[in-house]
Amino acid sequence: MIASEPRLLQELEGSPWDIEPYLRAGGYEAWRKCVNELDRDGIVNEIKQSGLRGRGGAGFPTGTKWDKVLHHRVKERYFVCNAGEHEPGTFKDRYLLKQAPHQLLEGCLIAAYTVQAKASFIYINHEYQEERENLQKALEQAKTKGLAGRNVLGSGMNLDIELFSGQGSYVAGEETAMLESMQGRPAMPRQKPPFYPTDFGLYGKPTLVNNVETLCHVPRILKHGAAWFTKVGTEKCPGTMLFSLSGAVNKPGVYEMPLGSPVRRLIEEFGGGVPAGRKVKAVFPGGPSFSMITADQLDLPMDFDSLKKAGTGLGSAGVIVVDDATCMVAQTLKFSDFFKNESCGQCPPCRMGTINLATLMAKIEQGEGSPKDLDSLLQLCGFVKGTGYCTLVTGAAVLVQSSLRLFRHEFEEHIALKRCPYQPAPVTA
Ligand SMILES: Cc1cc2nc3c(=O)[nH]c(=O)nc-3n(C[C@H](O)[C@H](O)[C@H](O)COP(=O)(O)O)c2cc1C
Repeated sequence: MIASEPRLLQELEGSPWDIEPYLRAGGYEAWRKCVNELDRDGIVNEIKQSGLRGRGGAGFPTGTKWDKVLHHRVKERYFVCNAGEHEPGTFKDRYLLKQAPHQLLEGCLIAAYTVQAKASFIYINHEYQEERENLQKALEQAKTKGLAGRNVLGSGMNLDIELFSGQGSYVAGEETAMLESMQGRPAMPRQKPPFYPTDFGLYGKPTLVNNVETLCHVPRILKHGAAWFTKVGTEKCPGTMLFSLSGAVNKPGVYEMPLGSPVRRLIEEFGGGVPAGRKVKAVFPGGPSFSMITADQLDLPMDFDSLKKAGTGLGSAGVIVVDDATCMVAQTLKFSDFFKNESCGQCPPCRMGTINLATLMAKIEQGEGSPKDLDSLLQLCGFVKGTGYCTLVTGAAVLVQSSLRLFRHEFEEHIALKRCPYQPAPVTA
């Protein structure tokens, strides 16, 4: 946890789902302020002023989204908090569900109230059972205190939040697939445009969907003001963000840093560096769907715009460090298999593309590849990139392209040796 303000995480005594420590630390003050003092446009303006951008992957401006739903001509609206979290290397929402359930509930109450949602939900990864139980306990406590449920804060308004167990697939975290699955249908993404949730969401009505972390920032911003939030970060990406750090580091974990902090700071200062005797070979700064960066790029600032400019992306800040003892073909194959297994199969280029990419990658890793396969891989990436109703297949293609661009020599070595050079050579008689 960073020591200085502004920051997302607060130190609380006792169980995180216990409401008393949260109240003592000023929790639910922003919620009271919203109900008693601010009007809805005032809330949206403060969020806009803060420059908060969604932490679920796309970095979309949160205030703009809220504004769109609040002023939608259709008055039946819904709110869903996306706690689907299923990407390899991303576990910060789980951390928040565990450590800050009241902060999340407060953010959800504010969001639902602001857009005048008819019903509100938190869609949780089905594997997060303990977190879900604790969140339910926290919600019951908030209701007992009159902060949620019937006649909220004596205002005569009813505002309940329902916890919804997710379908348990990666694609189910994509917002339109999530909304489909909440209506009892297969978790398959909708075509966008035109089916953006802000226009056509749950039951075909305008729906505000926000990520767990995005919503946890909301009470802090409304309590301390937008200017407090923008004290750190970059001009276009203000505030702090939680980084899930995994792979070849001494201290994997969830770390909060201002946006725009260098990759090196996360790995060295927070992650304690790579294990002794090894060096950084590559880093996935935004999970497996974005291009890797190499050891000479560790001074890159970690924010949505800087990483995009550098040809990669921040996503939901699932940072995976790869060391020099790792075979990049095997590493790429591992994630290609993930994309193949997680494709929902709805869009043919994704269904076929992810299978073919993983098959070619396996062929090369097993020492059965030919130089032609490298051309085929690149051609296939070109065909499938940008197709599909969601970005899964684009991620699968970007992964392979980036691996081939940065580590082509490793692919060629596999082909020349007819085996993985990182595996011991077979003993011949
Ligand atoms: C394949 C896929 C999986 C996704 N999984 C999640 C997820 O688990 N949680 C999440 O908040 N966003 C996820 N997203 C992004 C959501 O579609 C959406 O952009 C986000 O929930 C919006 O919230 P935000 O504006 O607060 O970031 C995923 C997107 C894709 C393409």
